[in-house]
This record gives sequence, C-alpha cells and structure tokens, in this order.
Amino acid sequence: MADQYLSNGKRFTLKVMIPTLEWTDEGVRFLDQTRLPLEEKYVLARSYRDVADVISTMVVRGAPAIGVAAAMGVALGAKSSSAKTVDELSREVREMSEVLAATRPTAVNLFWAIQRMSAKLDALRSKKDATVDSIRTGLIAEAQRMYEEDIAACKAMGDFGAELMPSKGGVLTHCNAGALATCGYGTALGVIRSAVARGHELHVYADETRPFLQGARLTAWELMHDGIPTTVLCDNMAASRMRAGKIKAVVVGADRIAANGDVANKIGTYGVAVLAKEHEIPFYVAAPWSTIDLNTATGDAIPIEERAAVEVTHHGGKQLTPHGVGIENPAFDVTPAKYVTAIITERGVLRAPYAESLKQMEALAVEA
Ligand code: MRU
Repeated sequence: MADQYLSNGKRFTLKVMIPTLEWTDEGVRFLDQTRLPLEEKYVLARSYRDVADVISTMVVRGAPAIGVAAAMGVALGAKSSSAKTVDELSREVREMSEVLAATRPTAVNLFWAIQRMSAKLDALRSKKDATVDSIRTGLIAEAQRMYEEDIAACKAMGDFGAELMPSKGGVLTHCNAGALATCGYGTALGVIRSAVARGHELHVYADETRPFLQGARLTAWELMHDGIPTTVLCDNMAASRMRAGKIKAVVVGADRIAANGDVANKIGTYGVAVLAKEHEIPFYVAAPWSTIDLNTATGDAIPIEERAAVEVTHHGGKQLTPHGVGIENPAFDVTPAKYVTAIITERGVLRAPYAESLKQMEALAVEA
C-alpha cells in the first residue's frame, strides 16, 4: 500500500506499511521499538507470554498496537495450547487473557481487544460442532481481522482529520501516534499523512517526549521514512514555538477517552493542550473508537501507569540524576475535555459537549 503526494512541487511516496507487528506461521513478529531509530531489528514472540513481555517492555507500544498485539497473543496461546477439549482450551485462553491484561493499565484498547477475543471464544464455543481446532482457527482469524480493521480505521480517521489541518504550516504532535503505535498508517500521524497526501504543505514539530523519547526516536524516524518534513523539539520548547507563530495546529493520539471527553495520553500532552488554548491554536485528538471508554465517566477514573524510575534516572545505560533522588514517572496524563477542539475518529469528527456527542455517535453505530 503506497500513496503518492506532492509537496513543494516534489513527488513523494508514502511507504505506509511500516511493519509494526505481523502474524506469521512461527509467531508474532514485532519491529523492536526500543532499538529505533538506530537499529531496525525484529523480535519474534513464540508464545503468549512472549507477547506479554513485548508489551510490558515497550518493544511494541501505542494504544491500538498493544490492543491488536494482545489479541494476537491470545490467538498464539490458543494455537500452541495442548488442550484436548473445548472446555480445557477455553479455561487456558481465559488464563492467558489475564496475563496479557496485566501488562499495561492505561490504554483501554488492550482490554477492549481481550474482551473482543473473549466474546469470540464464547461465540465459537456455543456452536454445536465446536472443536478445539475450530476455536483455534476462529481466534486466529479474529485477531487478523482486528489487525485489518485497525489499519482501515486509521485511514478513515485520516480522511476525516485531513480537512481540519491547515493548508500550510507547522503542526505539533506529542509522543508517537503513528504507524508504529497502530497496525499501520497511524492516528494523529495518519491525519498528517492524509493531509499531506491531499497537498497540504505541513511541517511536523515532534515533541521529544521524555522519558522514553517516542517523539525524538519514533515519530521522527517514521515521518522521515515517508519524507514528511519534521523537526524535533525538546519538551520545553513548545511554548516558545507557539508564541513565534510556528504552530498552526496540534494533533495527538489517545490511550483512553472517558465518557465526558477527557483524554488520557502520553505524559506532557496536558501541558501542550493548555499552551495551545493560550495561543488560540486548535488542539485535536485522533483515536479509533476502541480508545473510547464510555464506562469511565471522567478522566479522574482512568488508571495512570507508573513506570520504573530508571527510565528517568538513566539514559542509554548512563545515570543522569544523583543517586537516591526522588523520582516520579507517570507515563500518561489527562487532558480535560475543555481543551480539546475536536476528537477525530473513524466514525467522524466529534465536538463538545463530548458527553453528548460521544453518546450520540455510539447510539448511531448500535442502530446501524
Ligand atoms: O507509552 P506508549 O508509548 O505506549 O504511549 C503511547 C501514547 O501515549 C500514544 O500517544 C497513544 O497510545 C496514541 S497511539 C495511536
């Protein structure tokens, strides 16, 4: 899959299919995101426990990608199980799902994907002629369907979101909400890709995103891969670039969106949103419907992952901070809905009040 686009009179090709994760006969193959941008190495997960490790250690990361990775983990576990009966296999699949669900708490896509695999298991089991093999085959097909659906959702978000992008100028993004955070194309970066493909002359400003540096390492790598002009900013530079008039819009992804429109995303997103409001710059969130959690009333109820202190105290194995100093490392923050100009989903663009627009959009989908 490759899209052509013109920028400053030059023709580029979007090589959109960065192989973030892939189902293979031997297991699930992941592009190791901890090694990017300096090395393009792959990790083969041969068991569901390998998949859980790959998610916990952030070899794969980004809400939609970890959701589909977990679904593939369930499918892989079912495939390699030695269970002899449907009941035995079902019990094992439930245990595997618990292990996968315990990897990262904030991105709701993980739980959505595991829940969808569990519903599929129930549907497969309830068939009169259900066998261990039919369940295995059905779960593998479901995980692969979710992979395809994720790419299609990103493309649809791109189509809806492109129209919101400026025709020319700087767009700021935080963390990596690109092909690397999804099964391909990306959410926030998908919107940027689609806008560029339609002829918008965009220059992306990528926040470095301390401490894991998803912006500096991953967003920069991914956009350069496609030839989209990109500049990396340290996290403390956004205010000055906004004031200098370089940023015309902000677009970020999300890990979980509560029923009132509060958005959990990578730590630092909240600060960017407040700055955008102060400078009257639109702040857009692009996320698939699987990121929307209508069962969580507000952002206050979203569990925020606390990661190891070593991510802050060290970089590249080198200690940066004095031994024994206090460290906090919340991996996400919550941006209150009042800062969000619009939420871009594969079902369309939502505007405030989000408590109503999210509910309405869900009701329309249920009716359809
Ligand atoms: O800790 P990470 O790298 O998994 O966090 C990722 C983010 O916060 C992304 O912005 C979010 O998942 C949206 S991905 C399309």
